[in-house]
Amino acid sequence: MAIVAATPDSIARAAEALARGEVVAFPTETVYGLGANALDVAAVAKVFAAKARPRFNPLIVHVPGEAEAESYAVVNDTARKLMRAFWPGPLSLVLPRRTDCAIADLVSAGLDTVALRAPSNAVARALLQAAKMPIAAPSANRSQRVSPTTATHVAAELGDLPAMILDGGPCALGLESTVLGVAGDKVTLLRPGALPREEIENVLGHSLATPKTGAELVSPGQMEVHYAPDTPLRLDATSPHKGEALLAFGPDAPEFSPMINLSPRGDLGEAAANFFAALRELDALGARAIAVMPVPGRGLGEAINDRLRRAAALRTGDGWQMPEAVVSGTDAP
Ligand code: TXA
Ligand code: MG
Repeated sequence: MAIVAATPDSIARAAEALARGEVVAFPTETVYGLGANALDVAAVAKVFAAKARPRFNPLIVHVPGEAEAESYAVVNDTARKLMRAFWPGPLSLVLPRRTDCAIADLVSAGLDTVALRAPSNAVARALLQAAKMPIAAPSANRSQRVSPTTATHVAAELGDLPAMILDGGPCALGLESTVLGVAGDKVTLLRPGALPREEIENVLGHSLATPKTGAELVSPGQMEVHYAPDTPLRLDATSPHKGEALLAFGPDAPEFSPMINLSPRGDLGEAAANFFAALRELDALGARAIAVMPVPGRGLGEAINDRLRRAAALRTGDGWQMPEAVVSGTDAP
C-alpha cells in the first residue's frame, strides 16, 4: 500500500519522487491532489494517464504564492487583489501564460492560459517548499468520479498508480477550489468551489460574470459528467423511497435508514466537508438510488449544488445531458 503518513521525512521523499518525474498524491485543504512536476511534460502525461483524463481538460498548478505565480503568468491588478485577499487558500486563478512560461503546454491543454493556486494545507505547503517546483495536480480520482477527501479514497480510486500517497488526514474544506477566469478587470466564475462567491464579490465590489456555454465554453472540464457515483442520484427529494439511500441535510431530515445527514444543524461548511465522503459511503451500499434532500444555494451551497447536478448528469459518451426526471426530482414512486 502506497499510503504514508505525512512527516518531514516522507514529504522529502515525495519531493524526490516528483523530481524523478513520478506522480505523488498529497492532501490540500480542498481535496487530495495527484501531483506531478508541472515543468516536466512526461510527468504531466502520467497524471492524465493515471486518471484517464481527456487531454483537452487542463490541470491546476500549485505554487507557494504570488511571487511564483508572477514567473509563469501575467498577473494584473485584479488578479493581484484576489491573491492578496485569498491566498493561500481555495482559489484558483486562470491567467494568461507568460510568453516565457516554463510550465508544460500539456498542463494548459494547449490553451494560452494557466490555472494557478496557492494551497493553505500545511502538508501541501511543505511539499511545495521541499520540491521547489510548480506542482500540477488535479483531484486524485479517476476522471468523472467522486473526488477524494482522505488518503484511503485516493487508494480506492488509483491503487498503486501514485508512487506515494501522503496521508495528511481528512481535507478541512472537502470541495475543490473555486476557479475564476481573470481577463482585465472582468472576473468570471468558471467553477463554484470552496471559496463562496459572496466573499469574492465583497472584495471585488461587483458581481462575478457567468461563463458562456456551448462552443465558447472557456473551462473545458466544466462540460463533463463529474463527481459521479455508480448509484443514480435523485435530486430535490422531499422523502426517500423504499430501496433508496438518503443523503440528508439539516434538522428537518426524516427518520430513515440508510441515511447520512451532511449537517444535522444545517451548517453548509460542515456539509461541504462531509459531502464527497458521504456520497462515496452511500454509493457503496448498492441502493436503487441515492435520494438527495434540497441544499440551500447560498454560500458553499452553490458549489454543493453544482457537484450534485454534475453527479446526476447522464453519461452519454460525448458530453453530458441532464435527465429531466432526476433534475426535477419528481417524488412519484
Ligand atoms: O481544489 C482543487 O482545485 C483541486 C486540488 C487538488 O487543488 N484540484 C482540482 O483540479 O480540482 P481538477 O483538475 O480536478 O480541476 C481543474 C479545473 C477543471 O474544471 C479545469 O477545466 C479547470 O480547472 N481549468 C484548469 N486550467 C484551466 C484553464 N487554463 N482554463 C480554464 N479552465 C481551467
Ligand atoms: Mg477533479
